[in-house]
Amino acid sequence: MALPDTRVLPFDEAAVAEAARLVLAGHPVAVPTETVYGLAADATNAEAVARIYKAKGRPSFNPLIVHVPDLAAAERIGDFSDEARTLALEHWPGPLTLVVPLRENGPIASLVTAGLATIALRVPAHPAMQALLAATGKPLAAPSANRSGRISPTRAAHVLASLNGRIPLIIDGGATDRGIESTIVAATGGPLRLLRRGPIEVDAAESPGAVEAPGMLASHYAPSKPLRLDATEARADEYLVGFGKVAGDATLSDGGDLVQAAANLFDLLHQADEAPQARIAVAPIPGDGLAAAIRDRLRRAAAPRSSLAPGSSS
Ligand code: TXA
Ligand code: MG
Repeated sequence: MALPDTRVLPFDEAAVAEAARLVLAGHPVAVPTETVYGLAADATNAEAVARIYKAKGRPSFNPLIVHVPDLAAAERIGDFSDEARTLALEHWPGPLTLVVPLRENGPIASLVTAGLATIALRVPAHPAMQALLAATGKPLAAPSANRSGRISPTRAAHVLASLNGRIPLIIDGGATDRGIESTIVAATGGPLRLLRRGPIEVDAAESPGAVEAPGMLASHYAPSKPLRLDATEARADEYLVGFGKVAGDATLSDGGDLVQAAANLFDLLHQADEAPQARIAVAPIPGDGLAAAIRDRLRRAAAPRSSLAPGSSS
């Protein structure tokens, strides 16, 4: 379904109110942060998060950064060690992202973390992103607001050039001051690790050899059981994940809707992993766009870990 042209509104109260209305209705909107423009959606709404991937045309699901108004909100979602809290107190609000263990049974959609047990959190300094957080009252998942494979946008015009017609609204807050994406540090047990260099230097963080490429550190959730693709029926001892006409034990989307399928993907993989059957089978997911991203993720889940190529970042 083609969207009408993307509206660009200057950053003011009316623009934030309109952006909040769209976000609460499940749509991603582009909003400046102090680093780059982000494409923000309600992190508690799996279908809204799936629409980020649809708009960006990302060929795979990488975990996304969740933006929150303050450290207290971050601590309701993730588990902070003393070291992580110290970094947060020193640098937030600001261009530092902390990867920490995800609290169990929290509100964040599993598509946000791509099924991982850790989550990337950041308290942004930009007044537009802070205003949108306040107006929605939701944690906001936001990757950079560019088509997959293009460079990150530092002006509203860059976002428009890459996403016109694919998102409903851009809040124009002028050029971003930092111009590069946030520093990412993992605080998930053991020493702090630098995952992505950025505007903030973190002395304490280890950068093992080269910095780990973003998105590739042991970072892809895969079920523990063997997984068979393109299955139209369950063989003995298989839990079948259905799609469209293939009903299965549970379905990604019985109507063949790709936004719904992407939204359900990681929850159903976890469910299949916990089922009594020893194996998992998944129905064919034909098509491009989100379908290709789902197949990419399923192929990774099906392959032995050692054969996986590093994930690409976008
Ligand atoms: O400055 C920024 O960080 C911008 C603005 C919009 O906030 N956002 C941004 O998001 O750069 P994105 O999606 O383009 O990059 C997120 C990076 C990816 O490389 C991803 O792999 C990593 O964060 N990441 C997210 N969650 C992770 C996790 N649980 N473990 C490891 N890496 C994670
Ligand atoms: Mg990016």
